[in-house]
Amino acid sequence: MAAEPVNLNEFQELARLALPKMYYDFYAGGAEDEHTLKENVEAFHRITFRPRILVDVSRIDLSTTILDYKISAPIIIAPTALHKLANPEGEVATARAAASCNTIMVLSFTSSCSIEEVAASCNAVRFYQLYVFKKRDIAATLVQRAERNGFKALVLTADTPRLGRREADIKNKMITPQLKNLEGLLSTKVSSDTGSNLEAYAKETMDASLSWKDLEWLRSITKLPILIKGILTREDAIKAVEVGVAGIIVSNHGARQLDYSPATISALEEVVHAVKGRVPILMDGGVRRGTDVFKALALGAQAVLIGRPVVYGLAAKGEYGVRRVIEMLKDEFELTMALTGCPSVKHITRNHVRTEHERIH
Ligand code: FNR
Repeated sequence: MAAEPVNLNEFQELARLALPKMYYDFYAGGAEDEHTLKENVEAFHRITFRPRILVDVSRIDLSTTILDYKISAPIIIAPTALHKLANPEGEVATARAAASCNTIMVLSFTSSCSIEEVAASCNAVRFYQLYVFKKRDIAATLVQRAERNGFKALVLTADTPRLGRREADIKNKMITPQLKNLEGLLSTKVSSDTGSNLEAYAKETMDASLSWKDLEWLRSITKLPILIKGILTREDAIKAVEVGVAGIIVSNHGARQLDYSPATISALEEVVHAVKGRVPILMDGGVRRGTDVFKALALGAQAVLIGRPVVYGLAAKGEYGVRRVIEMLKDEFELTMALTGCPSVKHITRNHVRTEHERIH
């Protein structure tokens, strides 16, 4: 393989070579049989294009607006845990890359750098991802800190009442996370003799009683707009709109939670049809090519988030690697727009793609 990767998938191999096995497995792995992990990527492969020709594509505008923030392309950094396992600079490097690519970073609740460190490191637009622990005052404190430090929205991850069964982490006895934001707030010392310490930690701390009615509580502790991450059905999409969320993220948590959940690109249209444009819909899971970004937009997403490729870029080449991952995806997306006859993201329509169920007339 060339030293300088030419696509996102090549970053994965570089990351594998750079990282201790326990950490690489943590980043790369999915739940149980990893059926959904493969499907997240492969379902994109089954969608083909209906490209239009002889459109003036001498200028292409990739930019878009998410919750009133203009970004250079509809590609956002998903919240992923523990960036210091990939690189000593951790989320600070990721945030700087987001800033230089003019995109949004969603900082994970389980970050290795603090909210304050990330905020001080760059002026990227930042959203804060929230898990709700049994000790509810932790969420309240962290939300206030995020607000005070200029984070613009909350992303409530709602698919994790418990941690999915990640067998690589069980075999490797994955370490207990060091969460900078929780210093002084939580002194839980949890370990497992037999399996993943991370899973034991999550079981001890996460509030599995969290439910739709708690959205009211969340709204009472913040003025920030709230997006819900982890929606895969029309039923939950409708509920989310009813409780007044500012946006929906169609996600199966990178296939790390419930195996045999649908590939997110397959679930997207059901949610789009249910929401009927009332709130913006984003999606993540398996986006590895600019063609994938285009397909997600054609099926109704306003933007995609990328998880693992960012961490692989960080592990392989630090801040520069994250920047390259985003730039490569943007370049591929721009080329896809040119070759499908779409000079701006507004020109991308449902008619530009064909899903596997649609017959060719
Ligand atoms: C995640 N994801 C995640 N989601 C979240 O809401 N909070 C978190 O802390 C994490 N942590 C995390 C760690 C790692 C290593 C991975 C791979 C994923 C899920 C993440 O936000 C996103 O949904 C998926 O990563 C998207 O899929 P791809 O792009 O990784 O295929």
